[in-house]
Amino acid sequence: MTDHSALLHETLAAIAQAGDEAALESVRVAALGKKGTISALLATLGKMSPDERRSAGAAINALKDEVSAALDARRVALKSAGLQARLEREALDVSLPVRRAGVETGRIHPISQVLDEITAIFADMGFAIAEGPDIESDDYNFTKLNFPPGHPAREMHDTFFFAPDDKGERKLLRTHTSPVQVRTMLTQKPPIRVICPGRTYRCDADQTHTPMFHQVEGLVIDNSATLANLKWVLEEFCKAFFEVPHVAMRFRPSFFPFTSPSMEVDIQCRRSGGEIRFGEGEDWLEILGCGMVHANVLRNCGLDPDVHQGYAWGMGIDRIAMLKYGLPDLRDFFDADLRWIDHYGFKPLDIPSLAGGLSGS
Ligand code: DAH
Repeated sequence: MTDHSALLHETLAAIAQAGDEAALESVRVAALGKKGTISALLATLGKMSPDERRSAGAAINALKDEVSAALDARRVALKSAGLQARLEREALDVSLPVRRAGVETGRIHPISQVLDEITAIFADMGFAIAEGPDIESDDYNFTKLNFPPGHPAREMHDTFFFAPDDKGERKLLRTHTSPVQVRTMLTQKPPIRVICPGRTYRCDADQTHTPMFHQVEGLVIDNSATLANLKWVLEEFCKAFFEVPHVAMRFRPSFFPFTSPSMEVDIQCRRSGGEIRFGEGEDWLEILGCGMVHANVLRNCGLDPDVHQGYAWGMGIDRIAMLKYGLPDLRDFFDADLRWIDHYGFKPLDIPSLAGGLSGS
């Protein structure tokens, strides 16, 4: 009788070493496949005498059974190890917090918020929006607005000028939104009722001035446009914007080249302990300039002052944003500091409306 222990030992070792199911299958084929070592042994039985066959057959079948059992056991072990590895690879920590969507984490800048609030208020009064470019001509920024060349009021604007172009024209960064009045009167027929929000530029920087800032201009050209109407529009605006039922306003005579008469407007407030409240108190705070559009401006923009009349005003957006939301330093507006915007910013889906509330909650 042949000793099969070497073959058994070798095959069991190969089974133990098979690292995956494919390797195990190769070991099975090498032992039990058609041309396998154990199959070859079984094939020898046919040539044996009945006695030899009985003892050799029992030994070979025992060998085959042991190998088959080892193969099965290893297959089960490899399967469960594979499953375990996959479970570990694809593990999900269901206790981790869900990542919040952009619309929940993004914030609207206070300037954009205030701009939306202003737009909501004036749209409700029937005003349209007019826009103009940041780079303006001297003519639209000054001359057509009745600042004659060499007039001292030009010097007060701390203008950023560009180098003269081929035609010798010196463009500038608009110092106020008033040139949009000019553009509107030159292109639209009265009655005109527009607000013109936008960026403006002056060479100036401290806690309450930045070289780029924002203004909103208002312009009404209509035969019923009077100072009384202007006063009503501004009062209604202030009540709606500061979200108070009453607000006292003071109109002081002033000078702007493009309006006559011209006024500056203060609103009533109370300052206490670094805080400021509107609609009460004995203090006054200047918030805007306004007046009846000067006859020269109407004429410069193609309107006959004997036929047309109107009023205009101009207001700093950054300033009223600081006042309404208690923001102490204007320079923070332009620092792009995420911590600041997270704290002072507004939720994107709280859209300001007169019906739903301007400043949200
Ligand atoms: N443009 C002026 C400025 O920047 C503000 C202003 C005052 C605009 C009176 C007006 C106005 O339309 O009527 O200082």
